[in-house]
Amino acid sequence: AMACPQRSLAQVQERVSAVHHSSSLSQQICLYDDWAPEYEQDVRVLEYRAPQLAAACLAAAFSALPHEAVVLDVACGTGLVCQELQKWGFCRMHGMDGSMGMLERARRKGLYQELKQCILGQEPLPAPTGHYDAVIIVGALSVGQVPSSVIPELLRVTKPGGMVCLTTRYNMINLPYVAELRAVLDGLEQRGLWEKITVQEADEWERATSALASYSHRSSSAAGLSQCARRGHEAVST
Ligand SMILES: C[S@@+](CC[C@H](N)C(=O)[O-])C[C@H]1O[C@@H](n2cnc3c(N)ncnc32)[C@H](O)[C@@H]1O
Repeated sequence: AMACPQRSLAQVQERVSAVHHSSSLSQQICLYDDWAPEYEQDVRVLEYRAPQLAAACLAAAFSALPHEAVVLDVACGTGLVCQELQKWGFCRMHGMDGSMGMLERARRKGLYQELKQCILGQEPLPAPTGHYDAVIIVGALSVGQVPSSVIPELLRVTKPGGMVCLTTRYNMINLPYVAELRAVLDGLEQRGLWEKITVQEADEWERATSALASYSHRSSSAAGLSQCARRGHEAVST
């Protein structure tokens, strides 16, 4: 097949902005279905680094042997996170996403043992309780995408003592969401349901949002963060 010509940064930013401003979840999933064939070449233009940053964050926090760990990649998209995790020795990976177009791209990579469709925020994750050694969600916890109320569900499918790794962005439109997410995470920590292991802020997140990083409500000029936390041993109600 002929490769599509690379789009300019402005064109890609326009597309990202359309996704961020979509009016409903179903509209947003449709936009991702349409974006799937060009998603990877577009995020290269953006210098989107979240998958590398998150994979490195998980690898550093993870104390068990990576090649034995079963990892769930939530909102896996085309599988960029899986490719990065592979570099750290993770090889048993399952993926879930709301977009069939994205899942089809991920399937073609042949890196996931299992791929399932799931609309996060509307239905429970199609996975048993306490199943995964690690659960990772990258580039999806933001306004109009995956609601922060999904966090307990991520914890539910994680083994007690297992790891959850997540990312979020500090661009202006996402700041209320970040505050809400932080409240959910702090609440879980206070209840002993999980323990924060690492928080890594980065200013080179992607070119679409890094320019807005100075609006960050944090002291740094960070544009995004990756965070790892260990699931506690108490049952999680969702
Ligand atoms: C920016 S992409 C990130 C994909 C991949 N994790 C990466 O970092 O390249 C966001 C992904 O989240 C999915 N997504 C967004 N909201 C969702 C929801 N509520 N339920 C399921 N998937 C969702 C989209 O289909 C898309 O594949």
